[in-house]
Amino acid sequence: MGRKIAVVGGTGAEGSGLAYRLAKAGEYILIGSREPARAQETARVLRERIGRSAQIEGMDNPAAAAACDIAILTVPFSGAAALLKQLKSSWKPGTIVIDTTVPLAATVGGAATRVLGVWQGSAAEQTQELLPAGVSLAAAFQNLGADTLGGDEAVDCDVLVCSDDEKAKQVAFELVGKIPGARALNGGKLENARIVESLTALLS
Ligand SMILES: NC(=O)c1ccc[n+]([C@@H]2O[C@H](COP(=O)([O-])OP(=O)(O)OC[C@H]3O[C@@H](n4cnc5c(N)ncnc54)[C@H](OP(=O)(O)O)[C@@H]3O)[C@@H](O)[C@H]2O)c1
Repeated sequence: MGRKIAVVGGTGAEGSGLAYRLAKAGEYILIGSREPARAQETARVLRERIGRSAQIEGMDNPAAAAACDIAILTVPFSGAAALLKQLKSSWKPGTIVIDTTVPLAATVGGAATRVLGVWQGSAAEQTQELLPAGVSLAAAFQNLGADTLGGDEAVDCDVLVCSDDEKAKQVAFELVGKIPGARALNGGKLENARIVESLTALLS
């Protein structure tokens, strides 16, 4: 049985865009949502778009977290901490989590051109604190917009990958390589995610 990639919050623009690109590249995708019916509907729409070869299922976030080998976190910063606390006991040891979260002020009603101060230094470092031991993390895709991902053109975008875990970094590089026109670049340590996240505000 091949690996499964959960997209936690995969009913949204960024998550469904990543799910679309990765399913199209042959990956087995589990769309996660707070509401299973919403996840199943997104999975159905993506399967219809890609065709019979697409392997995409929809389920609630805890079920997706429990069943996956890799998870991509695509929920707004405002909801990420509570969700990660809920998922803490769901992850299998060895799961790799890729965090796309940007703490834009827009997530709490402010401007998309501003980034919120995060006590831990970045959204990714907050995520790191909320994952159990044995689950590793890379931060990536924060500057790759949903509009671009949702189309069929090559994305023509650099993706900075930050992590303190070599395996997680390697997996993130591999996933970036599955998206036509995306170029993975080594962003160094996880703490550098604070720089990458703030670039999104500049691009907004
Ligand atoms: N949009 C972009 O262009 C872009 C680019 C780079 C990075 N990102 C990052 O990707 C993440 C998702 O962005 P998005 O634009 O796709 O966001 P979004 O559409 O607002 O939200 C994505 C999904 O998250 C779930 N969600 C919403 N509020 C939640 C909460 N309080 N707790 C748990 N789940 C919640 C919803 O799914 P359910 O209601 O089905 O649970 C929603 O469909 C963000 O962290 C963002 O910074 C986005």
